[in-house]
Amino acid sequence: MKKVYITMNIPEIAEKLLKEEFEVVVNTDNKFLSKEALIQLGCEYDAILSALTNIFDEDILSKCTKTKIFANYAVGFNNFDIDYIKENSIIVTNTPGVLSDTTAETAISLLFAVSRRVVEADRFVREGKWEGFSPKLLLGKDIYNKTLGIIGAGRIGHRFAEKLRGFHMKILYHNRERDLCFEKSFNAEYCELDDLLKRSDIVTIHVPLTEKTRYMITKKEIDLMKDDAILINTSRGSVIKEEDLIEALENKKIYGAGLDVFEDEPNINSRFFELNNTVLLPHIGSASKETREMMATIAAKNIIRVLKGGEPINLVY
Ligand code: GLV
Ligand code: GLV
Repeated sequence: MKKVYITMNIPEIAEKLLKEEFEVVVNTDNKFLSKEALIQLGCEYDAILSALTNIFDEDILSKCTKTKIFANYAVGFNNFDIDYIKENSIIVTNTPGVLSDTTAETAISLLFAVSRRVVEADRFVREGKWEGFSPKLLLGKDIYNKTLGIIGAGRIGHRFAEKLRGFHMKILYHNRERDLCFEKSFNAEYCELDDLLKRSDIVTIHVPLTEKTRYMITKKEIDLMKDDAILINTSRGSVIKEEDLIEALENKKIYGAGLDVFEDEPNINSRFFELNNTVLLPHIGSASKETREMMATIAAKNIIRVLKGGEPINLVY
């Protein structure tokens, strides 16, 4: 019987589907898997259902001699050495599509939390600081009629724009290539990155992390932004040079930031904790019950197809 290893405690549906065909072992207590442990798994299991925290670099992948498919429990797959999997035709799948709405909703909740200072206001009430209605208490910033800059107009960027239709925003976008359909749907204007940063009141990032997008936003780019701009990131932490962003937030060079992802997760630079203009989430972009179940189902289905000799549905390359 073929063997499948699931590296994290994901919704049971995956195990249930896989158990109909294969022997399945789950890392139920999410114990840390070292490099050696991953190599060991790759020599023992026919398929690995991996998480974004499992780093498969060239050295590890070259030693995973038994594994036929790595089904990553995420849409992002920057935890794999992309060049190596391309060159060696290693089967890696992801979970696109099912999490686009949920991740867009997370980005939107960050946007409102920052613009209307929701988390700061909640802390204020809990700390017993509220002395009564006050006309100038915790004034925020409106979203409607403002200019929205979307960096990465893929599935998630698209859903973000779609959900904000009622806010009558001017939409700018930057993408690897122009997307005429996106332009038409949202009356959106294609911009170079610098131009988008200069003109947007809100900037939201929805690009995958690649060698091209790493540190796409550094001090130089932040300096172009309006001084009351809001930056939202639900993609990958390393798209932004975090030190530079912290400095800008400390000096109030922009209005605020909403972040679901960080450069060195789960280690958070403690300077963030002092910032009232920043909302921090623990990488919960796709974390709705419904979506996590769908992600588990897709990952399992990809494994079932490949181990039964078929083609995967969501091959990343
Ligand atoms: C989560 O970050 C994902 O890539 O699905
Ligand atoms: C992810 O699913 C994206 O293409 O935005």
